[in-house]
Amino acid sequence: MRSKAALAIIAIGLFAWCWPFAAQAAVDREKLLKDTGVYATFAVFKVDEDWWKLDKVARASAAAEVKAAFQKHGNSVTTDTYLLRGLVEKADFFVRVHATEMLHNQNFLVDLMGTALGKHLVNTHTFNGITKGPNYVPSLPDDLKAALKTPLDPGAKPYAIVVPVRKDAEWWITGQDSRNAMMKEHTEATTAYLKTVTRKLYHASGLDDLDFITYFETAKLDDFNNLIIGLERVKENRHNKQFGNPTLLGTIRPLDEILDILSR
Ligand code: HEM
Repeated sequence: MRSKAALAIIAIGLFAWCWPFAAQAAVDREKLLKDTGVYATFAVFKVDEDWWKLDKVARASAAAEVKAAFQKHGNSVTTDTYLLRGLVEKADFFVRVHATEMLHNQNFLVDLMGTALGKHLVNTHTFNGITKGPNYVPSLPDDLKAALKTPLDPGAKPYAIVVPVRKDAEWWITGQDSRNAMMKEHTEATTAYLKTVTRKLYHASGLDDLDFITYFETAKLDDFNNLIIGLERVKENRHNKQFGNPTLLGTIRPLDEILDILSR
């Protein structure tokens, strides 16, 4: 008995000793951006008017504090930052956060909001979702499945667009075969844009008032415009109860650049 207790104490001790080192390892960004079962939070912010009244030194020191908050959580979340200012009226920037637990996204955002800059941030929108495996791709004909593997054109894709989507009740009670047919039509409408538009789909039902958060990157906003028009013409679009509202159009920028713009 005594030896069992001693072993348990050693095991607890070892765990406590190893834990800080394990926790310090940076998250595997590539894996989080690729895997299913990953939680994503899109946190959208507007800087309040008082922020711009602060002197430059105060704004620069607040920016350094924000960088520290990003670094502190680099062991549990991976982040991407986007500038909306100038293109979106109600918001200045957003952060896309991925982690294996929604709690990690929340802890990071709570710390960010607790910084001196955070106290000047109005959180205009937050979208929560999870990545999942495909529901419809397996039912697509082989030629369409093959088309989905079309390689992207090389080069930077500086624009990011986020479109929140909510389906109507009719969609969810429609049988799988009919939905497969509608998603086939959806996919056919997109093939002309596979080279220029990258996409990522998040499922949001129950985690938000949405059903999906759709995320895109492109260098060709004209293509994106035509892609949306094409998708508005397919039957599946009749089931979109919410499409955008808000649509976020921003540019992908490093955190330093966004902080620099806000500190000028
Ligand atoms: C290159 C562009 C696009 C391609 C190749 C594409 C292709 C697809 C495919 C194959 C699926 C089925 C995924 C599955 O098997 O679960 C899907 C789902 C979906 N797509 Fe697109 N899509 C594109 C653009 C868009 C755009 C622009 C929107 C809206 C802004 C959109 C909204 C959705 C939504 C909401 C779903 C989920 C439907 C559901 O599960 O009920 N897609 N898309």
